[in-house]
Amino acid sequence: MTKKTYSLILGIETSCDETAASIVARQSNGSAKILSNIVRSQIEEHAPYGGVVPELAARAHVVHISDIIKRALKEANVEFAEIDAIGATAGPGLIGGVLVGITVAKALCASLDKPLIAINHLEGHALSARLSDGVQFPYLMLLVSGGHTQFIEVKKLGEYNLLGTTIDDALGEAFDKTAKMLGLGYPGGPEVEKMAKNGDATRFKFPKPLLHEKRLDFSFSGLKTATRLAAEKIAPLSEQDRSDICASFQKTVVDILCARTKDALEMFKQNHPNEELRFVVAGGVAANRAIALGLEKTIKEKGAVLFVPPISLCTDNGAMIAWAAAERYAHGVSDELDFSARPRWPLDDESMKI
Ligand code: KG4
Ligand code: ZN
Repeated sequence: MTKKTYSLILGIETSCDETAASIVARQSNGSAKILSNIVRSQIEEHAPYGGVVPELAARAHVVHISDIIKRALKEANVEFAEIDAIGATAGPGLIGGVLVGITVAKALCASLDKPLIAINHLEGHALSARLSDGVQFPYLMLLVSGGHTQFIEVKKLGEYNLLGTTIDDALGEAFDKTAKMLGLGYPGGPEVEKMAKNGDATRFKFPKPLLHEKRLDFSFSGLKTATRLAAEKIAPLSEQDRSDICASFQKTVVDILCARTKDALEMFKQNHPNEELRFVVAGGVAANRAIALGLEKTIKEKGAVLFVPPISLCTDNGAMIAWAAAERYAHGVSDELDFSARPRWPLDDESMKI
């Protein structure tokens, strides 16, 4: 019998408001193929509340997870028996949702006698550019989502150095809260971007905290407060006022991200003087065109190469979890069935090392 030259991995993601499952094939030479990537968003469930309600999220995962996994298998034309390992997000995230995904994965592994691979959700994001573009280690990554805003130095599988993070709100959260305050829809990021198109970005001057400091951290709560105070000062707001606030908010965010990215690239260059400067952006906020254009310019000026995975791999999905599991499986890594879910789990934790 000829030896199989690829592994088939089922990935399960339930850490926030997407119920997702995917089948990814990894060839022994490291190349990847996504055979299915099924995502059920809970936006409609949470929209009336203007944000994710953890208990509702967990309940919706329970209702939909089996069907999503079945659809992932069907679309990939793969049977349970053909799968080599199952990867599931074990943290960080909303613990109720994480428990649903990891428990389903454990039950499947126990009954099918397959290895379990417990995945750190952030590692899924960090490795997604290797799934889409085969990016070589090491690289610098900016993760901008509803829950995270971080610069991560991705050294190799399991070795991540956190260069900077937000000390308060995540960037997506700041977009969502600003949208809510202005009476726009949920999720707020796309709504703010839409309004900003017709706005005057120079009308309001908002703060850019921490930029004078050397550390690569972010702070967005001051920006959020300044936006609210500006809105209160000129209330009641016209459509144009709203657009101007959105445009000024978005411009401030772009300036902050670009300035910080320049510093982060400098630091990365010092750490890896002989490497090509590879820069990866991921997370739902990467869908913002103004941010993408600003970053593209900054990256070019710095002589770096930019990789942005397709948006379906930037936002939460099962393929990035399957892929992280595939990379770990290829290194002979698997986890015990008593693995504990971790609501907080930094990427630079000792436990990540293989
Ligand atoms: O990565 P993601 O889908 O989920 C997690 O948070 O893990 O990111 C969702 C976040 C939300 O806060 C949403 O408002 C933001 O990404 N977002 C955007 C845009 N599209 C999504 N923010 C700014 N501009 C956008 N076009
Ligand atoms: Zn995420």
